Amino acid sequence: MKTLAQKILFLKSQSLKALDQFFQLRPITDVERDGADVLYLKGLTPEALYTSYHDLLEVMPWLYQQGARRWCDVGCGVGRTCLLWAWLFEDAEAHGVELVPERLEEARSAARSLPAPHTYWIEGDFASPSQKLPDADVYFIYLATGPQLDALLTKLKRRSSPAWVVVVESHGDLKPRLQWEAWWLAPTATRFALQSQRHDPWLQVYRTRPDHPVLSLEDAWEGRSGLLPNELALHPSPLGYLLGKSFQRHWELVVEEFAEMWTMETLGLTWFNPQSIQGEHPPRQIEWTKVKLGLRRLPEDVPYRQWADWRRHETSLRYSTAHADGRRVKLRKIILSPVPCLEFSDGVRIQCQDLTNLEEDK
Ligand SMILES: C[S@@+](CC[C@H](N)C(=O)[O-])C[C@H]1O[C@@H](n2cnc3c(N)ncnc32)[C@H](O)[C@@H]1O
Repeated sequence: MKTLAQKILFLKSQSLKALDQFFQLRPITDVERDGADVLYLKGLTPEALYTSYHDLLEVMPWLYQQGARRWCDVGCGVGRTCLLWAWLFEDAEAHGVELVPERLEEARSAARSLPAPHTYWIEGDFASPSQKLPDADVYFIYLATGPQLDALLTKLKRRSSPAWVVVVESHGDLKPRLQWEAWWLAPTATRFALQSQRHDPWLQVYRTRPDHPVLSLEDAWEGRSGLLPNELALHPSPLGYLLGKSFQRHWELVVEEFAEMWTMETLGLTWFNPQSIQGEHPPRQIEWTKVKLGLRRLPEDVPYRQWADWRRHETSLRYSTAHADGRRVKLRKIILSPVPCLEFSDGVRIQCQDLTNLEEDK
């Protein structure tokens, strides 16, 4: 049996191709199926899609030395990182979660040839509410930003024990996204140089902080309805919190601007300018330092919910008032105060009390 040092020397002396042969792994790329962009079903090289063994040869022993035994690659592809962890540390275990079955099948078959295959594979969507994350000491992330990553972060944040999170930058926006979470997902001083060409030449190690007192504050806010209170200022990352919530479909931002309050669903930050928030419904850029922002659950009451749906889907509408009727428009803005009204694509604002008829233009 080889020692860890011997194994590392062996791995370092081999090419990536030779190591794939050693692990009996084919780094398959294109998969014949339509699907979401984040699954990278076509057009990527294996080098871009998968992390190389060589990029993990320092971080893995470091983590093991810190006491980590359970590795989880969230979006594990063909399972390279898991196979490597399980082979390096025979008393440890590796978990891979992957949505593309062809990739996971490759991982499973390679794992069968390992001498001590403490590997566990989950075919599923790590972002789905019903998919529990495997319990692990380390979570490895090489993923795009977007709603799936947000869902994953929410799950990691809710874990009750601390974990390491190891991150490879995907497109240049992942590490900036994580800055908003730095109060519970703290970047450690430890980072490791990558040999592969990536958007950022460093592999960064983070540590979750499940004991952070603000987590209970967030829990308390979760149960409330209406506009979030002034104590939002207690949050170490108020904007990060607002954005994280507003990415979710059942929340919206409340913007106070020029003595007026209106509501908006967001897409996210425009990363080239971290001062601005890009509204999705209505499409609008606002500089968050220049307005006051609140957050609320989308109200369930019938006219509001209907208006929010129309705003989101840019539904063609026809409205009538006591003074005018029959105009074809789209709903732009829902204004809450000082006078509740709706603003339409023709620029006209109508007070809610004067809307005698507003319906879909079929
Ligand atoms: C850039 S690759 C990284 C693969 C692997 N972690 C590595 O570093 O070698 C991202 C992988 O995550 C998978 N993936 C993306 N979103 C997923 C989701 N919501 N659930 C499960 N797997 C997902 C993709 O199919 C892809 O195989």
